[in-house]
Amino acid sequence: MPVNLANGTPLSWDAPELDADTKAMLDNLQPNILQAHVREHLSVLLIGFGDGADGKRFLRGLVPLMKSARKHLEETRAFNATKAPGTPYVGVGISKLGYLKLGHSTAKFTDDAFKSGLKRRKDTLNDPPVSAWEEPYRKEIHAVVLIGDATEAPVAATRERVLALLPATATVVAEETGRGLRNAQGNGIEHFGYIDGRSQPLFLADQVAAEPGRNWTPFFPLSHVLVEDPLAPRPARHMGTYLVYRKLEQNVRAFRQAEEDLADALGLTGADRALAGAMLVGRFRNGTPLRLHGKPSSDGHPVQNDFSYRDDPDGAKCPFSSHIRKTNPRDSRDGGLERLLGVMMARRGQTYGTRTDRPWDEAPPRTRPTGGVGLLFMAFNSSLQAQFEFTQQSWSDNAGFPAEGTGHDPVIGQGPRDGKVTFPKAWGNAQQGAPQPQAPQTVTMKGGEYFFMPSLAYLKSL
Ligand code: HEM
Repeated sequence: MPVNLANGTPLSWDAPELDADTKAMLDNLQPNILQAHVREHLSVLLIGFGDGADGKRFLRGLVPLMKSARKHLEETRAFNATKAPGTPYVGVGISKLGYLKLGHSTAKFTDDAFKSGLKRRKDTLNDPPVSAWEEPYRKEIHAVVLIGDATEAPVAATRERVLALLPATATVVAEETGRGLRNAQGNGIEHFGYIDGRSQPLFLADQVAAEPGRNWTPFFPLSHVLVEDPLAPRPARHMGTYLVYRKLEQNVRAFRQAEEDLADALGLTGADRALAGAMLVGRFRNGTPLRLHGKPSSDGHPVQNDFSYRDDPDGAKCPFSSHIRKTNPRDSRDGGLERLLGVMMARRGQTYGTRTDRPWDEAPPRTRPTGGVGLLFMAFNSSLQAQFEFTQQSWSDNAGFPAEGTGHDPVIGQGPRDGKVTFPKAWGNAQQGAPQPQAPQTVTMKGGEYFFMPSLAYLKSL
């Protein structure tokens, strides 16, 4: 029976009655796709091949360092039961130019954005010209190797093993080091200081059981992330996914200043000033959703995710323009059209850059970094066009979404911001206050690429 990607129920990955194709899919799928892999420490190697045959040997040589999605899920279960540590994550993606260098045709790949490559999508995405990207990213990138684990030592050791396999004809074009950032409570945050990575599409029965939702259903069918690997021996059971990788630099000082300016403009004082930043993000720094609370709930544990905007039609609680409402309208519009369109992607990014200040505290903007820190944004998609690009272009960069006058996404919106935006007069008040200038752009794309994460069966076949 072919793998049922459109299955309306979550996958019981360990069920004994699972059909042979689905079992084979799990044994050949890379980890970190269906379930996030720990990657507190992350090494990202962006590689250029000089010779196709050498490139193939290198990729084949990585297989013993890799594990399957099933192995990862088993390791996660063991860790949850006994705290037994798992093995490092090694993931591999190949760009369109990479496949061509290896001597493959990309004709059978379904995604046109992938077949263009990120550099040629800059107009769609409002990205800076390639000449303004960081120098290494202007070059051809053929593959990415992701190495992640909970601690530094296994990542460093695995990185050495990967580099030892690299043929003389290949080069590391660019390298990034991701490092989890945590707040005082130990929750993962991004550089503006907000808890990140909370809201994700869930695909597996055990994930969904752990997060029952009455207002928001986090379950999504496998078709959101999986596609046949067209170059694998048996594409119908050997699956992969498209990866968008973008280095997004964050000007923390400018964002913190925008929060202060908005708080002043809205007349917020004392502890209420935190509302300004929450209106830009849609959550308070500790993750409390603005849709549910007008103040940060005491400790943010557990970070709530069971909400929709259906009962906040005027943006009285969570402004339409906030980052999380722009990037996930949560089935609130047109009977949940965006769920049918399949926009939700699996985000798997990691923060980069070190800093000496405490990102979560109230220290003034002038003490914050203006660059050198940010997010290595990564997300898995079954269609880069219908998911990542659609979110960035049609929602975040579109000042008219979901309604005229909404403004750009204040976190990631790209492009000129002429119009003004309004915010509720008070939390829960449908009346909008005086129009305010939009927050300036504080996130800058520094380089990246689109990749396909092939099946292990493909890598073994090289
Ligand atoms: C959620 C920050 C880039 C899409 C979030 C959250 C934060 C955040 C703090 C709330 C945590 C959560 O609900 O999981 C950032 C920062 C970015 C960035 C600082 C860049 C430096 C992006 C990009 C996209 C994106 C490039 C897609 C084009 C989303 C989505 C959610 C989210 C879909 C979940 C919304 C929901 O389901 O409620 N982001 N983000 N983000 N972000 Fe971003």
